[in-house]
Amino acid sequence: MKITSLSIENFRNFSIEKFSFDNKIFITGNNGSGKSSVLEAINYFSGFRSFRDYKDNNLIKKDKQHFMIKFEGIREDNPISGGIKYSNKGKEAVFNKTPVNRISDIFGVFLSVIYSGFDKLLATKPPLYRRRFIDRILSITDREYFESLMSYHSILKKRNYMLKNNYNKDLSDTYAMQMSKRAKNIYMKRLEFIEYFSSVLNETINMIYDEEKTIAVEYISSKDKGAFSEISLYKVLKDMEQKEIRRGRTLAGVHLDDYNIKINSNKITELGSDGERRLLGMAFKLTETELIYESMGEYPIILLDDITAEIDENKKERMIKLFDSFEQVIIASPLESENTLNYNTIALNGDENEPAPN
Ligand SMILES: Nc1ncnc2c1ncn2[C@@H]1O[C@H](COP(=O)(O)OP(=O)(O)OP(=O)(O)O)[C@@H](O)[C@H]1O
Ligand SMILES: [Mg+2]
Repeated sequence: MKITSLSIENFRNFSIEKFSFDNKIFITGNNGSGKSSVLEAINYFSGFRSFRDYKDNNLIKKDKQHFMIKFEGIREDNPISGGIKYSNKGKEAVFNKTPVNRISDIFGVFLSVIYSGFDKLLATKPPLYRRRFIDRILSITDREYFESLMSYHSILKKRNYMLKNNYNKDLSDTYAMQMSKRAKNIYMKRLEFIEYFSSVLNETINMIYDEEKTIAVEYISSKDKGAFSEISLYKVLKDMEQKEIRRGRTLAGVHLDDYNIKINSNKITELGSDGERRLLGMAFKLTETELIYESMGEYPIILLDDITAEIDENKKERMIKLFDSFEQVIIASPLESENTLNYNTIALNGDENEPAPN
């Protein structure tokens, strides 16, 4: 898939702006000129959230009431277009000129993967990023997984509210049962997925590293305090209910699980340097890219946000070349010298977007 144009309104530092894209584009400009924001706006169509910010409100230009993003592109040789407006009324979307009822209906239609400094969080301590990363891939490629996960989270929210504010034994039981049922499906799909994921990860990791690496992924289940077992989530929740009432929240389940990733038998969360973490994060994203290709039959748009920072010179060039083989690649960097493959350039000037002084 590729994007041919993007219009943005009241998004981050931009008032109103339109960009056209070739297959290979290099976006440059000073710090704060809006490079990451352009990639963020493009990638927004992939998950309807920012890759670097939880709050949609933060994306609205300061002192404005809404933001709007529109794109035109090509998918499977057909034109595709879409637009989204966010305001205090929520999100309103249009895809291929048709209003969208539920945003979740168009999840996975716009294919893009963003590579950025955040990727190194995949190799750091908190499990949140790993969990979200795998959930996102599974949600794009498996509708049933997505539905189970959404439903699990909505029951979890109700159960937590009840445990905290107004404990009711029957209700707690019903919620635990409903969660357990959905969790069963989620566990099954995650376990199946990580087998496949580790095989693709092993293939992609060696594209990035010079020396041979072996990688293994294990599932860490919060209900089992370690390796996954067949014991039901319902039983575990029932056994720990008193503790849950005291803490006011659900203490085990698919929302708290993690993935233990070992590279040459070392846990990645104990890996040393920032550069190493970045490379590993990049390998994860490359794996995501391949998996999207395998399940969708098309490569996503590759968005590279300053990826060569912290990477040593000899790897930099190889990395840029590696990504060059994808259909569409949009690179953002403050350094024009990083445009080693002479892509067409979009030069941003943050001030241009401000109204001229009187
Ligand atoms: N809601 C907002 N309203 C107005 N300005 C914002 C908003 N959110 C962020 N900004 C500003 O937008 C500018 C562009 O940010 P962005 O991260 O896109 O810059 P960048 O070109 O990627 O910079 P760098 O080279 O440092 O990575 C920044 O100055 C930032 O402070
Ligand atoms: Mg940036």
